[in-house]
Amino acid sequence: MNIDDARIIDLTKILDSRGNLSIIEENKDIPFKIERTYWIYDVPGGEVRGGHAYKENQEFIVALSGSFDVVLDDGKEQKIFSLNRSYYGLYVPKEMWRQMKNFSTNSLALVLSSTKFDENDYIRNYEEFLKFQNK
Ligand code: TYD
Repeated sequence: MNIDDARIIDLTKILDSRGNLSIIEENKDIPFKIERTYWIYDVPGGEVRGGHAYKENQEFIVALSGSFDVVLDDGKEQKIFSLNRSYYGLYVPKEMWRQMKNFSTNSLALVLSSTKFDENDYIRNYEEFLKFQNK
């Protein structure tokens, strides 16, 4: 996949004096069926997460609380997406090297995934990722 396939997706926001509400429906708001949900929290200051790519898995990442940056790299080009609101998220296509960094205190990253967990779907070595991209 190409870095231009990654994109910010704005979610529906129901504004209410009692508090706001946002929604994600699979295959509608995001372009895949959700097979798995996980979240990243209590990240110590300065830590970097990720540092891998998936061969098949696609993801949608939302900053439910706080802020962090997602750095995507397709092997040719790099883009940095800053996530800091719960009413939009980042669609990460398969075959993207990704890192998450600059987590604020108490940030909470929600990640929706298109596949079940499979360690064999990971590419954890950047050189290997570049070879995979030039397959
Ligand atoms: P990893 O995906 O490497 O985390 P990050 O990209 O945020 O740095 O996962 C960290 C560990 O958690 C690794 O040992 C695999 C395990 N893990 C699961 O068992 N199931 C999952 O769904 C995920 C995402 C990770």
